[in-house]
Amino acid sequence: MTEAILVTGATGTVGRHVVAALADRDVAGRAGVRDPEAVPRQIADAGEPVEFDFTKPETWGPALADVDGVFLVRPPIVDGSAVGSFAEAAGRVGVDRVAYLSTLGAERNVLIPHHRIEKRVAAADVDYTLLRASFFMQNLLEVHRPDIVERDEVFVPAGSGRTSFVDARDIGEIAAVVLTESGHANRAYDLTGPAALEYGDVAEIFADVLGRPITYPEPSLPAFARRMRRRGKPWAFIALMCGIYTVARLGLAARVTEDGRRLLGRQPRDMRTFVEDHADQFRSENVA
Ligand SMILES: NC(=O)c1ccc[n+]([C@@H]2O[C@H](COP(=O)([O-])OP(=O)(O)OC[C@H]3O[C@@H](n4cnc5c(N)ncnc54)[C@H](OP(=O)(O)O)[C@@H]3O)[C@@H](O)[C@H]2O)c1
Repeated sequence: MTEAILVTGATGTVGRHVVAALADRDVAGRAGVRDPEAVPRQIADAGEPVEFDFTKPETWGPALADVDGVFLVRPPIVDGSAVGSFAEAAGRVGVDRVAYLSTLGAERNVLIPHHRIEKRVAAADVDYTLLRASFFMQNLLEVHRPDIVERDEVFVPAGSGRTSFVDARDIGEIAAVVLTESGHANRAYDLTGPAALEYGDVAEIFADVLGRPITYPEPSLPAFARRMRRRGKPWAFIALMCGIYTVARLGLAARVTEDGRRLLGRQPRDMRTFVEDHADQFRSENVA
């Protein structure tokens, strides 16, 4: 019987959907956040906010009290070693299972923090499930939204490489499945959407759904870096994005798997559904 699940990164792109999916299953989700007073209403209604900070170990014990499962996210600004230490602490205080949000291919790429964190989670005294996700569709709603809204462009330096985009809402539902049902202990799942698309295909879907021309100008890496810089993005962030899009450019982000369909019991959401569901946020009258 599940007591409570602590969701780290609960206000983030995936965590908010984990909290919602647990509430749909009548499981007590606890939203681990740095400032419980600042949690958006919709998230607080679905999961009780509790103070939690990877960089403040004094918050870990109270956040883990009476918790038997943890959804574990490494926020991009947090050092991976703190995330590994937290997974080990969770095992020591009796948490039964941890679902860790990782990235596709982390098992082979020794250079990325996810590789080391996965190893520490697997070695901790918990049942673990590694959710190795492909590129989130929601990145188009976040980093790339201004290009789509203000310039009618999908401005991504991925050349003609394909990407097996996954919807963060599906990852949230899958996390709730693996944390509340049996049969997922000590396993890794590769989570992708139903198809691998070129960014030209993505632009066509946007144009079709929004009813206005949207192009994919295939920007070079320097052109992308210049635009991000003009928008005030830090160099470290730009370097990370260029690394991610180089992987896509080389055709290494195109693998489509069946794990998502099996865990959801339906096809994962496709790009058209994502754009239709968020169409209002891509219209120019809604620029913040
Ligand atoms: N984007 C992709 O396409 C993609 C694909 C595969 C894997 N991933 C992985 O997904 C992870 C990010 O997930 P996401 O996009 O859902 O996260 P996110 O939207 O970046 O949100 C991260 C959350 O972490 C919280 N946070 C920040 N600093 C914290 C701290 N010191 N202690 C505790 N919480 C802190 C913040 O919430 P509060 O301010 O409320 O505390 C924030 O809402 C990364 O590890 C990334 O590598 C991303």
